[in-house]
Amino acid sequence: MKARITGIGKYVPKKVLSNKDLEDIVETSDEWIFTRTGMRERRIAEPHETTSYMGAEASRVALGKAGIEAHQLDLIICATCTPDTLLANTACLIQRELEAAGSGAVDIQAACSGLMYGLSMAKAFVEAGTYKKILVVAPEKISSITNYKDRTTCVLFGDGAAACVVQDEGSGFYIDDIELGADGNQADLLTIPAGGCKLPASMETVSEDMHYIQMEGREVFKHAVRRMESAAKLCIEKAGLSEGDITWLVPHQANIRIIESMAKRFQVPMERVFITIQKYGNTSASSVGIALSELTETEPLSPGEHILLLVFGAGFTWAAGILTPTEKE
Ligand code: ACO
Repeated sequence: MKARITGIGKYVPKKVLSNKDLEDIVETSDEWIFTRTGMRERRIAEPHETTSYMGAEASRVALGKAGIEAHQLDLIICATCTPDTLLANTACLIQRELEAAGSGAVDIQAACSGLMYGLSMAKAFVEAGTYKKILVVAPEKISSITNYKDRTTCVLFGDGAAACVVQDEGSGFYIDDIELGADGNQADLLTIPAGGCKLPASMETVSEDMHYIQMEGREVFKHAVRRMESAAKLCIEKAGLSEGDITWLVPHQANIRIIESMAKRFQVPMERVFITIQKYGNTSASSVGIALSELTETEPLSPGEHILLLVFGAGFTWAAGILTPTEKE
């Protein structure tokens, strides 16, 4: 038996922050942002749109599409680097929103790679027979950890959520294979220095903006390209496919130049690369899920197709996965 995704959902806030808006906040330009990243605008959550709120909204859509009720879930895995609170975990808060008390509920943190890490765990639980119905949800309120005085990062990120129901039966997408990777040696290239036990919040850490994302963009770029390429090669091989079998590429939405280089490497024409970066920017763990959700809403996908998912994020962490549409039931 192969685990499959039976429902995919997304949630994005209504409030738009455009490149033009950012021109009034930091020294930047629409032209610089668009040519360097492919982004035109991103969504920013209102105060009531917490990570758990957005996660619950995306989850309701995913559960509806899977045709199951929240109380039937065995486990909720929430992948986020912007939890509502450090205690309790955001998975429990989403469970409360969904009125699904009783299921297991756990947070995982693999930055932008989180959804794929969660799907890999859900696949393992389902295929081992441990659980039958798992919700993997990736909500991110990245605006809450973004320094709007730092033009090298604040133009890149937006808020949003994605959710997938993983089951042992039903129609949707087989999870053929997921390859995970990480290199902790590079942890300092993309980090939030304060707020953890190493540097707890203090007047000093707050005044020095140490609770915000700091990134060496150029270095991250190089590693992202190299790591996603090797993960994809391994994943295609383990799924028993060849590179020419890939019919769609759904990548992490961090930079259009990274996406184009992956498309070129795997010879996927750009019209078969699903891109949301222009309207949502980089929404961290939810990015690939939001793109996957929109792909399934807009494109007719058939069982002969193979979707390659690629992600990369802080840690560094990365992952590649192959999904294949099931026959409709
Ligand atoms: N507006 C105008 N100029 C800017 C801006 C801005 N917003 N930001 C930087 N610049 C300037 C820099 O200061 C620099 O000026 P200088 O040459 O005078 O020093 C110049 O533009 C070029 O800067 P670079 O950093 O070299 O620009 P680059 O082409 O590398 O683009 C970017 C930067 C977009 C961040 C890119 O490096 C990138 O996308 N990196 C990868 C990001 C990624 O993959 N993240 C995934 C993980 S995210 C997560 O896990 C949460």
